[in-house]
Order: sequence, then structure tokens, then C-alpha cells
Amino acid sequence: MAATDPLLQPFRLKHLDLRNRFLSTAHEPAYTEDGMPKARYRLYHAEKAKGGIALTMIGGSAVVAPDSPPAFGNILLYKDEVVRWLRELADDVHAHGAAVMIQLTHLGRRTSWSKADWLPVVAPSAIREPAHRAFPKAVEDWDIARIIQSYADAAERCRDGGMDGIEIECYGHLADQFWSPATNRRDDEYGGSLDNRMRFSAEVVRAIRTRIGGDFILGLRMVCDEDWEKGLSREEGMTIAQRFAASGDIDFVNVIRGHIETDEALSHVVPGMGARSAPHLDFAGEVRAATRVPVFHAARIQDVATARHAVASGKLDMVGMTRAHIADPHIALKVAEGREDDIRPCVGMGYCIDRIYFGGEALCIHNPATGREDAMPHVVAPSPGPRRKVVVVGAGPAGLEAARVASARGHGVVLFEAASEAGGQIRLAAHLGRRREIIGIVDWRVAQCEKHGVGFRYNLYAESEDVLAEHPDLVFIATGGLPNLAFLDAGTELVTTSWDILSGAAKPGESVLLFDDNGADAGLTIAEFLAESGSRLEIATPERTLAPDVGGTNYPPYFKSLARHNAVISINLRLESVTRAGNRLAATLVNPYDKSRHLRQVDQVVVEHGTMPLDELYFTLKPGSRNRGEVDYAALVADRPQEVVRNPAGLFTLYRIGDAIASRNIHAAIYDALRLAKDI
Ligand SMILES: Cc1cc2nc3c(=O)[nH]c(=O)nc-3n(C[C@H](O)[C@H](O)[C@H](O)COP(=O)(O)O)c2cc1C
Ligand code: SF4
Repeated sequence: MAATDPLLQPFRLKHLDLRNRFLSTAHEPAYTEDGMPKARYRLYHAEKAKGGIALTMIGGSAVVAPDSPPAFGNILLYKDEVVRWLRELADDVHAHGAAVMIQLTHLGRRTSWSKADWLPVVAPSAIREPAHRAFPKAVEDWDIARIIQSYADAAERCRDGGMDGIEIECYGHLADQFWSPATNRRDDEYGGSLDNRMRFSAEVVRAIRTRIGGDFILGLRMVCDEDWEKGLSREEGMTIAQRFAASGDIDFVNVIRGHIETDEALSHVVPGMGARSAPHLDFAGEVRAATRVPVFHAARIQDVATARHAVASGKLDMVGMTRAHIADPHIALKVAEGREDDIRPCVGMGYCIDRIYFGGEALCIHNPATGREDAMPHVVAPSPGPRRKVVVVGAGPAGLEAARVASARGHGVVLFEAASEAGGQIRLAAHLGRRREIIGIVDWRVAQCEKHGVGFRYNLYAESEDVLAEHPDLVFIATGGLPNLAFLDAGTELVTTSWDILSGAAKPGESVLLFDDNGADAGLTIAEFLAESGSRLEIATPERTLAPDVGGTNYPPYFKSLARHNAVISINLRLESVTRAGNRLAATLVNPYDKSRHLRQVDQVVVEHGTMPLDELYFTLKPGSRNRGEVDYAALVADRPQEVVRNPAGLFTLYRIGDAIASRNIHAAIYDALRLAKDI
């Protein structure tokens, strides 16, 4: 297959030979240090090059001017020092056979004035973007001249930094803010007719071309249809693409459909879990047919079969699998080696993108090596030491990861699980139909474990004797937790946990009060499940907003469901107690600000308050272990192997991981496991 696989066919872009059709489109992982793409940034992209990708586009819109301050760690292309860092990165990526380009932009109104140099945010017209919430100033003539110059200067730095090409970001940013009738209300030569609205971007493209010459590769990542009654129509978008293509100034179009002025809108451009596969692929194919320039595109093309179809059917020249490469940077290599089933799937969780909007760096929910390439392996190497016996208790994400890594190291692994299937809390979460894809995190690990000979023992609630009977050298306790109800003053026996509902142990009531003091996906998952089941739902949260830990691309589908089912959302209320009221329940909620008490009578009170660790087995085994359960945090953080010995007579080393320590998330659980197991 490899020889004829459409995905593995080379592609010639102008003078540049791309070794296959795999592309990672621009995405800002916020790995910059001082605005520069230093070691972490470089290693992240080099890993994809090692994994066989043809082209990686760096810089989620690297910014060209100080009045476009980073929205989330963007590269500062207006500084000369960037050239050196680009050069190092380009050399590293090239050394592994891939090409590297960079996306540049002026963010326009899509940023904030209270950052970096505190310059006013600018836009074609003084219209606020709801997502970033800055009130912009309408650009003046001297702004336009200055910004065009900045684009050309930045493009020159990219060329000098050894990039193979550049791409101008034209969706939701300054260039296309001029195109869109929704954001351009000008009455000068930059507003009104399509010619006028295109003037700024055309001047930018001309200025760049004049500066970098005709040979350098230049493309547009452009919206060709804002899919918005107020916005750029499909006809106008196509016309813009055709005009740029006909100008001969651009070498490719990277197609976007949709707009991004709200989180809800963005969730369709970067579609996540539960969204249709490749929703804009056919449209991208239409742009290709209409422009006759090479076309790139990415939007939820997550699996190799869909990617193959995109190329084979002539819709795309280069197929963007951006989050798919965040989850697994070695896709091309695995395809070429006939190991497609080894590809760690992107499950569309959106943890990567949502984190950057919270000021964090992009991390994959189930690949803790991404962005940590200096310390964490994407490929687990066999241990050079003796083969050891490893017992893992609990087949949730932490336990499965420990078993996967330990077995890939070549050790003999037994995995005890009390339930009849692996997955723990992930399996519960997968009961919400829209998010069932999350089970991919479990399925991939089970398959990898089976491949490496892990012995699964299901339906066994492991006691210490079961563990010791295996004569282990190492024991991982990944027993997870149980729903936490300890906070209630009264009525723990009357409430229903989110687990009861999701597992089917309890049926959703007719009228339900859901108390969500988790604030993350678990709370909204049970909320949507109840709403979709037909319960009349009120969600009470002690926070000042619902689900503060659920990010921008994830909350819109939940909120859509809650709105559709008229769920009532009550903030600033903490559940204090639950009592019986005839055949119903009476819940007392307290407002922490004025201490007022609020009573609700409902059929069912459902609680989501995280978990309490299930740690009995750990504490039973602890005295007999060599390390007495201790982890050397200094060594852990510095990426050195664990060497704690507190009880030389102990026959095994004991680690507790995941929610068996404390209620956290999937990434934390898997990272616990990887960083301890990778060195054994
Ligand atoms: C962490 C993250 C940051 C992103 N930042 C940008 C960006 O700065 N510019 C851009 O054009 N697209 C950005 N994107 C969108 C991606 O380029 C891509 O269009 C999107 O992830 C959909 O493709 P996929 O389904 O293959 O991941 C970002 C995506 C992610 C995951
Ligand atoms: S966090 Fe989710 S969406 Fe992002 S790469 Fe990982 S699996 Fe994919």
C-alpha cells in the first residue's frame, strides 16, 4: 500500500519538494520563551519532522507589530533577534527531512490592549470582538502604512530565518477584518466595495512580494466563506481567493470556512468531539477547483482514512491533521510502516487549544510527551536493565498508561481491574453520546497493552494478597476514587452521584437539581446527560460562572444543549444539605456573599464534586514497600530516575498515581504514570 498510498505521494509546491501530503497547520502552542521560538518550540516541531511529516507550519500567527500583542504566547516577528531562533528551528526540522513555514499576522481587534506595550488595539472599524473583548480604534492612514511595512519586515526576517515559506493569516485577523462587512464599516478607499475591502490585504501581499522576491513561497490562510449572515459571503470569499490566485502573487490557499468572533463560532472552525468529521472538506475542494492553486485545509480530519480520501478525491493537495499530530507526531511514519493501528488517536477533546486561552501552553489530554520533548518520550524504548515484574491496580487512564509504558519497556505486566472493562471514569464520561469518542483514550491503550503482552485480570477487586502473590518488583496503585460527598452537612444518603446517573445505576429524575462544584468537564457532562434525558434541570454552582475550567472550544456544545432544554443556571450557590420532603427532596443552598438560604424541592439532587481517593490498598502495601510509597519530587521534576529506598527489606517499589492520589484530570493521571514508568 505504501508505494501507492495517496498520502505518501510527494508534492511539488513551486520549487519545494514535499515528501508526502501530511501537514500540520499553524497553531500557537504558547511554547515561546520571551516571545521567541527557543528549544521547547524547536523540539516540538522537530518531533513531527522525525515522525515523517512533510510540512509543519509554525507560529500560530506570529505577530508582525507591537500593536498586535500576543493573544497567547505568539512569536514576536517584529524583533530582529527572532531570526536566530527561526534559523535553529528550521535547521532542526530540515535535518529530519521536513519543510517548515511560518504563519504571520496582525491580530487587529483579536487581542488585548492591556498586554506588552499597552498600545491601542486597532481594527478597520471600532467594533469590538466578543471573544477578546477589546474596544478597538479604527485604523488611520498612518497605521495602515506602518502595519504594511511591519508585514514586509517580518516576512524578510522569516526568509532570513531559513523558513521555506510564509502564510498570512486571513481569518478573524486584521487582513480579513477588512474583507468582512461585519467588521469593516469604513467609508474611505478601504471600505465599501469588495475592491476597497481587499485593498489592505492586496497591499500587504504586494509589499511582502516586493521585499522577499518572487521565488519565496507565500500563501494565504484565508476564510473563503464566513458562513455568517453579517459576514463575508461565499461568493465574495471565492472571488477574493480567485483574484489572489490570478494575481500570481500567492502560491497556495489554506482554506477556512466560518468565522471566529465568538467561542461558539470558533468551535465550528476548530470542531471538536462530537462534531462531524471533516465538515469543510468538500468546500475546500470547491475552492481548489475554482482557484487552481494548491490547496491546504484542516478541520477535524483526524483519521488517516479521511485524510487519504481528501487527497485521493482531489479535494486537497496538502491535508492538515493538526491536532492529530499534537496527539501523535509520528503519523506519517506509522502509515509508511503499515502501523496505522499504532497511531494515538486525537479524540477531539480540545484540551490543547482551550489551555492556551487560559494562559497555559498547549498540552494534549492524553499525550504528555507533546510539548515536553526534552524529557518525555513519544516512543518508549525498551529498558536496558533486567526484565521486571510490574503489577498495576486499576485500569483507568493512569493504570493503563503505566501498564502501556512498563510493557513497552519490556517488563512483565499484570493489570488488575475491579470492573469488567477498562476505562474507569473515562468509560463513564463516554456515556454522553456526543462525547463517546473520549473512549479512544482507553481503547488505544488497551490495544497497545495487549500488543505488549499485558495480562488483564478483570472483575477482580485486588487485595494486598493478590498483589503480593505476583511477586512484583514494582506496584502502581491506580485505583482512582469514589464520588466525593463529604462536603454535605446532611443528606449524603439522599443524593445521587453523577456516576450513578452515567452508569445507569440510577435513572434521571423528572425534576433535578444538579450541584456542580467540580467546574470542569465532569460537571457539564452530567448536566448535558440529564438535560438530554428530559429532566427538568437546575444547575447550581458556587462559582461566579458555570464551569470555569471548561475552555472556549468545549463549552459551546454543552451550553447549546442546556439552552435547548431550558436548563436553569444558578451561580453563587453552595449546596449545604438535603432532607426528605414527602416523596421529594428539599435542598438547601447558601449564597456565600449575603449568607442567604435558598430552598428547592425536587425529585432528585445530583452531585458532582470530584472524587475522594480510593487508597486503602496503597496504605496497606506501603509499609512493606522499599520506598514506603515515597516519590522523590526533585528527581521527578528534573527527569531523573527514582532511587528512594526507605525500607531496604522491602521487596517492591510502590507508586500511587492518578486520582488515587487526588481528584484531577486525565492528563494529570497519564502524566503521573508516564514520568514514573518511563525510567523503570
Ligand atoms: C492549540 C491550537 C492553536 C491554534 N492556533 C492557531 C493559529 O494561531 N492560527 C491558525 O491559523 N490556526 C490556529 N489553530 C487552528 C489549527 O491550525 C487548525 O485549523 C485546527 O486545529 C483544525 O484542524 P485539526 O482538526 O486538524 O486540528 C490552532 C489550533 C490549536 C489546536
Ligand atoms: S487534547 Fe484532544 S483535541 Fe487536542 S490533540 Fe489531544 S486528543 Fe486531540
